[in-house]
Amino acid sequence: MEYRHLGKSGLKVSEIAYGNWITHGSQVEEEAAVACVRAALDEGITTFDTADVYAGGRAEEVLGRALEGVRRESVEICTKVYWPTGPRPNNAGLSRKHVIETVHTSLRSLRTDYIDLFQAHRYDHETPVEETMRAFDDLVRAGKVLYVGVSEWRAEEIASALRAADDLGLDRIVSNQPQYNMLWRVIEAEVVPLCEKEGLGQIVWSPIAQGVLTGKYTPGAAPPENSRATDPSGSSFMRRLLRDEVLTAVQGLRPIAEEAGLSMAQLAVAWTLQNPNVSAAIVGATRPEQVRENAKAAGVRLDAGLMSRIDEVLGGLVERDPARTASPPSRP
Ligand SMILES: NC(=O)c1ccc[n+]([C@@H]2O[C@H](COP(=O)([O-])OP(=O)(O)OC[C@H]3O[C@@H](n4cnc5c(N)ncnc54)[C@H](OP(=O)(O)O)[C@@H]3O)[C@@H](O)[C@H]2O)c1
Repeated sequence: MEYRHLGKSGLKVSEIAYGNWITHGSQVEEEAAVACVRAALDEGITTFDTADVYAGGRAEEVLGRALEGVRRESVEICTKVYWPTGPRPNNAGLSRKHVIETVHTSLRSLRTDYIDLFQAHRYDHETPVEETMRAFDDLVRAGKVLYVGVSEWRAEEIASALRAADDLGLDRIVSNQPQYNMLWRVIEAEVVPLCEKEGLGQIVWSPIAQGVLTGKYTPGAAPPENSRATDPSGSSFMRRLLRDEVLTAVQGLRPIAEEAGLSMAQLAVAWTLQNPNVSAAIVGATRPEQVRENAKAAGVRLDAGLMSRIDEVLGGLVERDPARTASPPSRP
């Protein structure tokens, strides 16, 4: 495994991180979840990503149990706040009340005294950014949270958080967690240049486009058994990706992966890590073999010729519009 600084912070994260959205507490049984976490640790993965809302809170609990007995100093635990954890008006968003209450629940579920990276899961248009940054800073002062970051924020939203922190003398956010893969590059135009300038790192999600960039979904064929596309909850997030024109183009990446001596999953993960502003790629997995395969993408260098052949194969299917990063206009 290789390790990178999270932005210009002192924290190091593993180039490959392991995340448990869709899987822990829902798609896979606890035994498989624990086996994936064990495989991740064996591969040198130290960075684990979850959220208060994944599987209605069960994902944090599963991860907490899976990491029991592991030296706390040997891992970085990342979680998030924003999406609703209950039906009441204050059960969502980035108000001081919800931020502080969520941290307490997450600490209990994760069986830990502190969270390494606490992230605002979306921008909250109903809370002043100063209120959220102050609450984040209080958590850092209290030692409950070590670093703070955001997820899926636009460049101007990230800039507003940095301004608030600088004006008020608060701890700055150190990271953003966006979707980023060969097919979805919307951070490149605005978010990455700002983050490079300000010292934030990207810790990117769905580097394999939820399994699609492995090439296991083929045009016109039923999805493989037990894949995310057959999971009732998982498949709802995959419609845009499971179109024949996407699946056909992805098959065109196979010879490129073979030539590079990589599996298609490894090529996809390694592709995200070629961007120097990316601190880590968070991969998901339903089986330990997937974790082991994906972890081997750490440290891989892809040459410029290969990178441009990927662009030629995917052509107009690549989404680049920065406006596609959008948080709900009001709290969900
Ligand atoms: N901040 C946010 O808003 C946000 C949103 C989404 C995700 N995330 C984070 O990012 C993490 C990763 O997202 P993701 O799960 O969509 O990432 P992904 O790595 O693109 O997709 C993971 C899924 O692809 C399949 N897969 C993985 N490796 C494979 C391999 N080698 N061969 C074949 N299939 C393979 C598995 O599903 P099957 O085996 O079921 O097909 C696995 O669950 C999440 O767990 C979460 O921590 C954050």
